[in-house]
Amino acid sequence: MRGTDFGQMVTMTRRTKPFLKWAGGKQQLLSQIEKYFPSNFNRYLEPFVGGGAVFFHLWNTNRLPEPKFLFDNNEELVNAYCIVRDKLDELISLLATHQKNHNKEYFYQIRSLDRQDIKLSDVERAARTIYLNRTCYNGLYRVNSKKQFNVPIGSYKNPTILYEDVLEAASLALHNVSIKVMDFREVTALAQPGDFFYFDPPYDPISETASFTGYTADSFRQADQRDLAKVFEELTDKGCSCLLSNSYTPFIRELYRHFEIKVVNARRSVNSDANGRGIIREIVVLNYYAR
Ligand SMILES: C[S@@+](CC[C@H](N)C(=O)[O-])C[C@H]1O[C@@H](n2cnc3c(N)ncnc32)[C@H](O)[C@@H]1O
Repeated sequence: MRGTDFGQMVTMTRRTKPFLKWAGGKQQLLSQIEKYFPSNFNRYLEPFVGGGAVFFHLWNTNRLPEPKFLFDNNEELVNAYCIVRDKLDELISLLATHQKNHNKEYFYQIRSLDRQDIKLSDVERAARTIYLNRTCYNGLYRVNSKKQFNVPIGSYKNPTILYEDVLEAASLALHNVSIKVMDFREVTALAQPGDFFYFDPPYDPISETASFTGYTADSFRQADQRDLAKVFEELTDKGCSCLLSNSYTPFIRELYRHFEIKVVNARRSVNSDANGRGIIREIVVLNYYAR
């Protein structure tokens, strides 16, 4: 019954959540952000989906319209989403194998697969991504310039690698969702009046050492933040509703000075700089009137 319309009806009452740990996840900010969601919109588009906390929350609360689009420029992440949506049974069986075999030596063996001349299938790649995510240090995603995953093993005693219920519910939520590898600069070409875009880009660092921008081989720089602000303005001109999360820095506040800015309080622990720990202020930027 997976992935069918019947399945989707049944899951209206079934809650789901991110199946990956992802830096910058919005899970703990949802209650502060959701009051700013627009009350009406036609299509939902999320150009930096990451762990997808906002998408899954909108699904849980039955607020997702048709159609919906999830994008990210991380190919392994996007592949994992597509496999959870389309090939769940195969994925679950590979994850069960990883669960059974997990130990330090096995972790480094699986991690090194991208350093060898072996072509993995899409399902094998997704299982590897989820396995490494659940067992590596802090669930970080970091690759070197050759796109080889280089996060060391985490110090978990008995990590749970296969969360079957979460994957099943996520698969239902992703049914009928268009999921693609895309750079955020390309989204304006897709935009239609009445669309709702939620942007959760890599954040502007709050201090020299506080940045965590290693999601992909290229990091996210101030020039990218400027391009994103331009996209935000173009979408505004096209009649789209846009909501954007970012750090509470002078640079970001200046970039979005013509829009409404709200402050939210986040608990962050992802980076090694003391300034980045504990409760910190973040902003949400809106291009529409919110309560
Ligand atoms: C902060 S994370 C998103 C967090 C997510 N919303 C959540 O709640 O878990 C930012 C994402 O942007 C993606 N990204 C970085 N540069 C990008 C680009 N130029 N275009 C599209 N996605 C990009 C990264 O791969 C990463 O998944």
